[in-house]
Amino acid sequence: MSHADPIAEPSADLSNAALVRRMLALAWKYRFGCLQIIALQGVLLVLSVVGLTMLGTAIDVIRHAAVAGSPSPNFPFGWTPPSEWTPYRVALVAAGTVLVVGLVRALFSFWLAIVVARVVQLGIVVALRSLVYDKLQRLGFRFFDRHTTGSIINRVTGDVQSVRLFVDGVVIPVIMVLLSLVLYFVYMLRLHVGLTLACLATMPVTWLLSVRFSRKVRPAYERNRDLVDRMVLTLTENVRGVHVVKGFGREPEEIAKFDQASGAVRTQQHWIFEQVSRYTPTVEMLSSLNQAVLLGYGGWLVIQGALPLGGGLIVFSGLLQQFSSQVTRVAGIINSVQQSLTGARRVFEIVDAPVEISSPASPVRLPKIAGELVFENVSFGYDPTKPVLRNVSLTIKPGQCVALVGATGAGKTSLLSLIPRFYDPTAGRVLLDGVDLRQFELDELRRSIGVVFQESFLFSDTIAANIAFGRPDATPEQVEAAARIASADEFICEYPQGYETKLREGGSNLSGGQRQRLAIARALLLSPPILLMDDPTAAVDPRTEHEILDAMQSAMQGRTTIVVAHRLSMLRRADLVLVLDDGEIVDQGTHEELMHRPGPYRKAARIQVDFNEPEPLERAS
Ligand code: CTP
Ligand code: MG
Repeated sequence: MSHADPIAEPSADLSNAALVRRMLALAWKYRFGCLQIIALQGVLLVLSVVGLTMLGTAIDVIRHAAVAGSPSPNFPFGWTPPSEWTPYRVALVAAGTVLVVGLVRALFSFWLAIVVARVVQLGIVVALRSLVYDKLQRLGFRFFDRHTTGSIINRVTGDVQSVRLFVDGVVIPVIMVLLSLVLYFVYMLRLHVGLTLACLATMPVTWLLSVRFSRKVRPAYERNRDLVDRMVLTLTENVRGVHVVKGFGREPEEIAKFDQASGAVRTQQHWIFEQVSRYTPTVEMLSSLNQAVLLGYGGWLVIQGALPLGGGLIVFSGLLQQFSSQVTRVAGIINSVQQSLTGARRVFEIVDAPVEISSPASPVRLPKIAGELVFENVSFGYDPTKPVLRNVSLTIKPGQCVALVGATGAGKTSLLSLIPRFYDPTAGRVLLDGVDLRQFELDELRRSIGVVFQESFLFSDTIAANIAFGRPDATPEQVEAAARIASADEFICEYPQGYETKLREGGSNLSGGQRQRLAIARALLLSPPILLMDDPTAAVDPRTEHEILDAMQSAMQGRTTIVVAHRLSMLRRADLVLVLDDGEIVDQGTHEELMHRPGPYRKAARIQVDFNEPEPLERAS
């Protein structure tokens, strides 16, 4: 399988047989709806045969009346018209029946459409979509590192449709095709055995053709999904990166990139289309061969008087047409099988993806978290072969304020992300109050840690709702108190709607510093025993930074705080400074201590002193 983003370690059996089994189980869940659909389709099938029979009878009646010496009609369903009826009246009754049958058919078709919509679109699709979405909420960061946004979105929206295709495009049609083939076949045999065999002689060829066709087209459908993923990726990146694209005047290149992705999809679809266009006429040609046999042999039978014209030849011709259209449907069904297998694999990849980070069966509960953090020989890498943190050991006492410094790429963000278990260490362990993090209930652990990310994400909701994201039950007073500490209160109140101001997608109607202050307020509102801040003041001017730091001084009281920081003003306030270089702790101590010994810290700090503080700390080496 060549996916745009294959899962490195497929967790479960995703072979075709296993997938079919799982989808059958899914259909079984909806068996009552499916049975209803099949029953309705069965009624429609019978009605169409009844209508056809009535048509044939009417023709025989008319012929008998019009052509002297023609055979008398056979009436179907064991019914004979009273002898005083004129042939015209019989024909009218037949016509009336055809009309009524048509009306009833229309009603049943309408009913069928409603049932299909209810079972399939409102039942299966919605259930699957929320299953996948639910799973996405529980999956770890590793999963999102590995999969592109486009592919994930496609799986939730498009591929889920492929799974439902298995129910309404495979399971139900297979049953219907089998039922109708048997019905038509038996009816044709009853009309004339020899004619049936002669006319069906080409069916195996049609069948073989359809099987060969779908074999050829199957891989193309799989490839098609990948290409669509790539196109969506290009699109999402372009939309999300619109500032960068425009800022660098790269619109033409971006257009070319999208054209290329879209062109690849088009070429691929064109190829599929070509195959379909070649296949359909061939099958149609075969069916006209059938019609020729029917007219030649069947016509002779009618002339010989061995077969009635209407009830025999005409009905037979209708049945034959239906029969071959069912046989050609087989190709469509096989196609749907392929398409749904491809989609199902992508959906179940998410459903089955191992939740690498989860709560233990019997988690340890702490009455109150003091906030002591210990790293014991912790190593970590996003790719296990490329360590980002190496053998990190450190102890942070409860309530301490720790500053983390280091060059870009040193592993600061990575170190922080181990504490709320966004990732687990590849070796060693992280302890909170002496207990391995992996022994806590995950939600409980995360609720006791406030995180301000390096790039904060805001939702398209009100400011108040964004601040209260981790504590939806917070009162407006609590929200405002948190905002005041993060010195966000001032700018929020400048909006006419204040805290009820709606943010645009991603908070794009705020400045970078304002976004960051909301993120700080959001973390503070949790009132967590542990506070992690990844460069929280990177996007604010030095004056605001002082304000935030001063305000936060009180917020940090009694909390263990780890701050990724570059500026001396922050570093001076810290109880402990950890110097990280290339994934290793190379030095630690207070700002004063570190300034008194030669090393990367003093060297970097001196640059800032020279520049009179406003400059961020340069690379620490
Ligand atoms: N990295 C990675 N996969 C990620 C995130 C990071 O492979 N999902 C790698 C980066 O390429 C980098 C290393 O991990 O080499 C450390 O990254 P990080 O901890 O984010 O570095 P920081 O010290 O936080 O750098 P910065 O100051 O730029 O934020
Ligand atoms: Mg970082």
